[in-house]
Amino acid sequence: MNEENYPGSIKSFLLDELCYIIKILSEGKYYVLLEIGSANSIKALTIVQKNYKYYGIDVNSRFVREATQNFVEKNISDKAKVKLMSFFELDSSFEAFDINEKVLIVLPFNLFGNLGNPKKSLEKLFILCQDFIISYYKINRTSYLAREEYYKKCEYKNLNYTKDYSQAKFTSSEGLCSITYDPEYIERIIHELVQELKPSFKIDMVHNSFNLIGLATYVRFNPSPDTSRSG
Ligand SMILES: C[S@@+](CC[C@H](N)C(=O)[O-])C[C@H]1O[C@@H](n2cnc3c(N)ncnc32)[C@H](O)[C@@H]1O
Repeated sequence: MNEENYPGSIKSFLLDELCYIIKILSEGKYYVLLEIGSANSIKALTIVQKNYKYYGIDVNSRFVREATQNFVEKNISDKAKVKLMSFFELDSSFEAFDINEKVLIVLPFNLFGNLGNPKKSLEKLFILCQDFIISYYKINRTSYLAREEYYKKCEYKNLNYTKDYSQAKFTSSEGLCSITYDPEYIERIIHELVQELKPSFKIDMVHNSFNLIGLATYVRFNPSPDTSRSG
């Protein structure tokens, strides 16, 4: 991940992604944003200025160190925290999950497509049972060109692109494996998980296009009225 290599289309993806997240937060349902794969935590300042708490987790210790230092310099350490941790280690004991402070989890910038098995990642989100947004690339020609330009600027060798009914994948000889999924495919997995893990929940799911090359799947967990009646 190297910001200097972002083509204009990816810079605008990231700006529009942040606008989309703020739009969802401003609907008033959440107090806390938890960003998975927070990298340099560039969103934190805006989120805190808008009066939400910010938590980030990332597996890269340099990013975590730099973001922590940045929070101190910006004087936002009481409202913004970042921790060295993998998405797959998250559980309900994580400090962001305070029962009084409703959390929105965000998997930004196609992180979802870097995590491997999509059902396993979604299952993790279902077990956490907190509302979430997955932000990812669309499958279209403009998105293909943006990703290709980005990976070429990163000097990945032997770039290879494959596409089928469910996904569009870039690989390289260095081990790049960036996959984006068809939203209908993600939707099918989510329906399966509802049946398997949350049959008593009413799950709201929307796919929102926020940019020419970016879209988000926003999932909310609502216990169904029948469940609350039966206690
Ligand atoms: C948000 S993703 C964006 C990747 C982008 N789509 C790309 O292809 O360049 C990148 C960040 O996610 C972090 N990351 C990767 N796997 C992770 C995991 N399992 N848990 C938490 N963070 C992770 C990386 O360290 C990096 O800072």
